Amino acid sequence: MATQIAQPPATYRTSPVAVDALRAHLAEHPEEKWTHTHPYDVSRSDIYYEDRWQPIFAEMRAKGPLHWVDESPVGPYWNVVSHKAIGHVEALPELFSSSWEHGGITILNKLDEEQLAEQGRERFELPMFIAMDRPKHTGQRRTVAPAFTPAEMKRLDDDIRHRTGELLDSLPRGEVFDWVDKVSIELTTGMLAILFGFPWEDRRLLTFWSDWAGDTEIAMVRDLDEMRHEILREMAAYFQQLWAERANKEPGPDLISMMIHSPAMNQMSPQEFMGNLVLLIVGGNDTTRNTMSGIIHGFDKFPDQRKLFEENPDLIPNAVQECIRYQTPLAHMRRTCTEDTELFGEQVKAGDKLVLWYLSGNRDEEVFANPDKLDITRENARRHLAFGYGIHRCVGARLAELQLRVLLEEMHKRRLRVHVAGDVERVRANFVHGFRKLEVEVTTF
Ligand code: HEM
Repeated sequence: MATQIAQPPATYRTSPVAVDALRAHLAEHPEEKWTHTHPYDVSRSDIYYEDRWQPIFAEMRAKGPLHWVDESPVGPYWNVVSHKAIGHVEALPELFSSSWEHGGITILNKLDEEQLAEQGRERFELPMFIAMDRPKHTGQRRTVAPAFTPAEMKRLDDDIRHRTGELLDSLPRGEVFDWVDKVSIELTTGMLAILFGFPWEDRRLLTFWSDWAGDTEIAMVRDLDEMRHEILREMAAYFQQLWAERANKEPGPDLISMMIHSPAMNQMSPQEFMGNLVLLIVGGNDTTRNTMSGIIHGFDKFPDQRKLFEENPDLIPNAVQECIRYQTPLAHMRRTCTEDTELFGEQVKAGDKLVLWYLSGNRDEEVFANPDKLDITRENARRHLAFGYGIHRCVGARLAELQLRVLLEEMHKRRLRVHVAGDVERVRANFVHGFRKLEVEVTTF
């Protein structure tokens, strides 16, 4: 397909790029660095980057399910840290709203009209159904849900298996390489390209767009946020073209065609269509990618579990659940309270922001014994909250599970053992939880 947009420079096509821009900006403007004074202000990204968030959340959980943080660069908010409390809040979507109008789904607040005017900026919005309440959410979710049925997963299985096998066969032996770039990103973007019927040669654009769209911290820096909007506009233009090409054709099996021809599509404006595509790209990208890296890192940290996997491939389906629990690639989702209410003994007011820390719920010792251990035989691994809960529970969960299961099965078939053999760098963010670099070496068992 001939595209009209400028291609990003080659270096921008590896991931993640937004964080590099943020670092460079903060080096030049140290006065913009955030300061965090509250001990439970877990919006600070260094604790995830340095992998030292566990004791902070464990201390909060020991004291209670909810904690008010009155001062933070992201404004005041409640930390919701227990498995039970997170499920409770998610089960009441009218009382605890996801909608963008109320504040959206991340810990960041949107700028109000006064702040926008002060900064001389226009509002840039991409409406997505993850940030909508019922009934609008229901109609829009319906346009994409048919792409994730068990029958569709069966249809995609062969393709995903074939590509995964080919990639594993091509990995260098006796050489250290970055698993994030060579495997996690490649498999995830490839899968999204198949799902969207996206031009194969341009598939790394999906990674590039997703990294910019999904970085919550970059949005705090004005210049970078504007660059982000520019990149998202380019992305919208690209998809506009794909849409125009497919709108007049017979319905195809790809997700874009499926959405265009869905009877529920008439509930969506072109802007919402675009917003929902971004949602699918971001939703399906960092999450699965970081679990693929998390599995390798987890097996390396717990060699007894890697041995169990090698000796017992029947454990793979449960290992997938456990690895998703252990990694929890999205650290949080946010809700906003719509009416004063009492919640687990605390007075929560209309307008209060509640941050549901899936990372913490998935390490809740009341539900998961020895929660900081990866245990692929764990009987209740499926109770993890990494996909959320309730009406917004991840619509792509089956696809993510399929890719992760196929990866483990194909690794097992080839008797591949992957060791961490070099640098490990985590993502510096409070939303996406994962790895930026994971240097490994491949051997066999
Ligand atoms: C929603 C996690 C993979 C698309 C969500 C939510 C979470 C999540 C936490 C919000 C749930 C809530 O608010 O209760 C994950 C994880 C994944 C993954 C951990 C991989 C391990 C995918 C994939 C896709 C996808 C592969 C699609 C290609 C979406 C969409 C939503 C969503 C469209 C919005 C659902 C709604 O609001 O109704 N995901 N996701 N996700 N996810 Fe995923």
